[in-house]
Amino acid sequence: MCGIVGYIGKRDVAPLLLEGLQRLEYRGYDSAGVVVTSPKAAGLKMVKAKGRVRDLEARVPKRFAGTTGIAHTRWATHGAPSDENAHPHMDAEGKVAVVHNGIIDNASDLRAKLTAEGVEFLSETDTEVLTHLIARNDADTLEEKVRQSLKLIEGTYGVAVLHADFPDRIVVARNGSPVVLGIGEKEMFVASDVAALVSHTRQVVTLDDGEMATIKADDFRTYTTSGTRTTAEPTTVEWEAESYDMGGHDTYMHKEISEQPDAVDRVLRGRIDERFATVRLGGLNLDAREARTIRRIKILGCGTSYHAGLIGAGLIESLARVPADAEPASEFRYRNPVVDPDTLYIAVSQSGETYDVLAAVQELKRKGARVLGVVNVVGSAIAREADGGMYVHAGPEVCVVSTKCFTNTVVAFALLALHLGRIRDLSVSDGKRIIEGLRRLPEQIQQILQAEAEIKKLADQYADAKSMMFIGRVRGYPVALEASLKLKEISYIHAEAYPASELKHGPLALIEPALPTVAIVPDDDLLEKNRAALEEIKARSGRILAVAHQEQEKADHTVVVPKNEPELDPILMGIPLQLLAYHTALSLGRDIDKPRNLAKSVTVE
Ligand code: G6P
Repeated sequence: MCGIVGYIGKRDVAPLLLEGLQRLEYRGYDSAGVVVTSPKAAGLKMVKAKGRVRDLEARVPKRFAGTTGIAHTRWATHGAPSDENAHPHMDAEGKVAVVHNGIIDNASDLRAKLTAEGVEFLSETDTEVLTHLIARNDADTLEEKVRQSLKLIEGTYGVAVLHADFPDRIVVARNGSPVVLGIGEKEMFVASDVAALVSHTRQVVTLDDGEMATIKADDFRTYTTSGTRTTAEPTTVEWEAESYDMGGHDTYMHKEISEQPDAVDRVLRGRIDERFATVRLGGLNLDAREARTIRRIKILGCGTSYHAGLIGAGLIESLARVPADAEPASEFRYRNPVVDPDTLYIAVSQSGETYDVLAAVQELKRKGARVLGVVNVVGSAIAREADGGMYVHAGPEVCVVSTKCFTNTVVAFALLALHLGRIRDLSVSDGKRIIEGLRRLPEQIQQILQAEAEIKKLADQYADAKSMMFIGRVRGYPVALEASLKLKEISYIHAEAYPASELKHGPLALIEPALPTVAIVPDDDLLEKNRAALEEIKARSGRILAVAHQEQEKADHTVVVPKNEPELDPILMGIPLQLLAYHTALSLGRDIDKPRNLAKSVTVE
C-alpha cells in the first residue's frame, strides 16, 4: 500500500524515479510526487499531482535535473487524494522532504502541538507531522534528526527523508512497512518493494522493523532506531526484472491468469516424493512427531488469501482428517482469540505484508502459538515472523486482484494436506491418487484457458447484470466466494456468494430474470443436491451459468471444465470464473489492474 522509491548516484534521477513509481503503482494510485536534489544544488525541487503516475510525469518540468531523489505513489488514508495530500511533504522552508507508508497513530496530538507552536500545515496527512518534527529538530546530523523525531511517533512507517543541508544522503527507516535497499555500482536505491529495483539491481538489503539506514552513492549503513549499528548482508532477488513486465498481454491480470499452468508447475516442483506417496516440505520446521500432536488447524488471511485458506481448510480436513477452519485475520485479531497450544496456526498472504495478517501472527506468537506462513513474497514480513512455512512460488503478482497466487496457494495447501495426511491416516493409494491429480493440474488449467473466447462471449451476455449470485456447496462454496469477490473487485457489479444449501433460507427471494446465478456444479456426491438448487432457481425464472463437469440441463449456459480428483476440483473450477470476471470488467471498460479504491498490499489497519 503506497509505494516509495529513492535513488542516489550519478544518473538523472527524475526519469529513474518515475519508472520506479510506475512499477509500484499497483500499491496505490490516487496521487504521486517526486522531489530531487544533487550535491551541488541549492535546495530541493518538488512536483506532486493528484491522479496516476502519468499525471505526475506530465507535470514534471523539462528542467528538473538532480542526481538524488525520493518519490511516492499514494493510496489515501489521512486526507482525500489531492495535490496537497500527495507525498513528499515539505516543511515551510523547503529543506526537508518526507515520503511515508503506514499510519502515524498519534498524528492529531502532534499536529495540535505543532500548530500551537506556530507551524502551518499544508496538507491533511499524518505524514506532514513527521516532516515538521524533523525540520524543527536541532540535532547536528540528519540521522539524529530523523531518529529523535521517530521516537515521538506512534504507529507504522516505512519512510525516506531528504534534507537540503545533507544532499549526499537519504535516510530511511522501517517499522511495520517494508523498506528495501538496492545496491548498485556507485549508486544506491531504496524502495518499499523490490519491484521498483529489479531492473537496476538484484542485490538487496531488507530492513527489519526498528531498523534505519543511511544510503549514499557509494555506501550504506544500517542501525537501529536506538542508534546501534546492525550488520546487513545483501541477498539476491530471485525474480527476474522481466517477470514484472506485461509480456505482450494487455493487462497484468490477463498475463497472470495465463501464467497459471507454469506457476502451478513451480509450486509442485521438487516437492513430490513418489516413493512414499507424499510431499517434502523442508521449510515447515515441523517433524512427523510434532505434526501428529496437532489437534486443530486455524488458517488466517484476508481477501482472496482468506478464500484460498477456506479451500485449504477443506483439503486438510478431507486428506489429513484434522479439524481445520479459516477466518479473516482482520476479525481474528480483534476478538481476543483463545490460543490453544495444540492448534497449528497458518497465516496466508500473497504479499507477506498485509497488516491485519501480520498483526494476527504477532499476537499469536506473543501468546506462544506455533505459526506457519503460506506466502508468495520471499523474505516478506509474515514469512520472517512465522516459525516456518511454504512459499507458493507464483512469481511476482502485479494486478491488484489475485489470480495465479490464489491458485498456487490452494495447490500449496493441497501439498500440506497430503503431507499431514500421509503422516496420519491417508493411505498410500490415496496419496498416489492426489499426486497424480496434482500432476494433471497444469495441463487441465491450460485446457480451461483455451476456452477463453467462449467465456468472453458469456461475459458479454452477463455484463448488463446489476447484481449476480454465486452458489456452491461444501468444496464449491469457497470457489463461489472467491468468484464473487473477483467480479465485484474489478467490474463493480454487486455480487453475493451463498452456499447452495442456504438458498431456500433467504436469498431465493432475490431470484428473478434480472439476477443471474453462477453455480458451481462438480460431478461429485453432491451433484444431485446441486441440481436441485438449479431447479429452484429455474422455477423462479432465474438465469443460470453453471461451471460443471458436464452440461447442466437446467442451466442457460454451462462452462465444462475437466474433472480431476474431487478434492482438487475447486482449483480448476475457479479458473473460468477468473476469466468471467476479467471479460465482464473489460466489456464494462474498467481499469482492470487498478480497480477503484483498492490497493494490492494493505499495510495499514
Ligand atoms: C488486498 C487486495 C486483495 C488481497 C488482500 C490480501 O485487499 O486488494 O486482492 O487478496 O489484500 O492480500 P495478501 O497479500 O495478504 O494476500
